[in-house]
Amino acid sequence: MVMFAPTLVHRDIERVVWTEAQIQQRVRELGTQLSTDYAGRTLTLVGVFAGAALFLADLARAVAPSVTVHLDVVGVSSYGNGTTTNGRPRITQMPELTIFGRDVVLVEDIIDSGATVAFLREQIQLVWGARSVRVCALLDKQPQLCRAEYVGFACDPVFVVGYGLDYAEAYRGLPYIGVLKPSIYQGV
Ligand code: IMP
Ligand code: MG
Repeated sequence: MVMFAPTLVHRDIERVVWTEAQIQQRVRELGTQLSTDYAGRTLTLVGVFAGAALFLADLARAVAPSVTVHLDVVGVSSYGNGTTTNGRPRITQMPELTIFGRDVVLVEDIIDSGATVAFLREQIQLVWGARSVRVCALLDKQPQLCRAEYVGFACDPVFVVGYGLDYAEAYRGLPYIGVLKPSIYQGV
């Protein structure tokens, strides 16, 4: 019988930046922070689908039971299949739940230019009428710009995949985050 070896790194990955254990540890810490900040309240976690799907699922489980967690997703498109942003996000999937009057934390996989998060923050607050909105991003390529209230890790300006992050929809299922070999997207 052929056994699956979970320690084998995907051949398209140049190097692993954050291991599964490091990610899980940091997500638990973020969950603890949210548990403190929203203790005794109802918190609506809105994940940006699909990149934040894995992060959203783990984060929801890391929040203490003193917080009532509502889960939703929003679809937004700005990247196509490339590796640089075109800066014009648009909603492709509306949240199912009522956002009006809710305390929302927007859960995002990674902030690069900041266009996606800026657009969604405004949408959630001003258009959908949330009572409050904060952003929780697993990765931020420029954390000094303070575009998220909660950040998992500062990320170097390289293209990373795994743990929800994709290149042309691939690699989302990897349990770790790594740098994609440039040969994979060069010439696209
Ligand atoms: P922004 O609008 O420029 O901040 O781009 C944010 C979105 O671009 C994220 O939701 C990701 O989907 C995507 N993105 C940015 N950087 C990366 C990366 O290194 N790997 C995979 N997706 C990325
Ligand atoms: Mg995304």
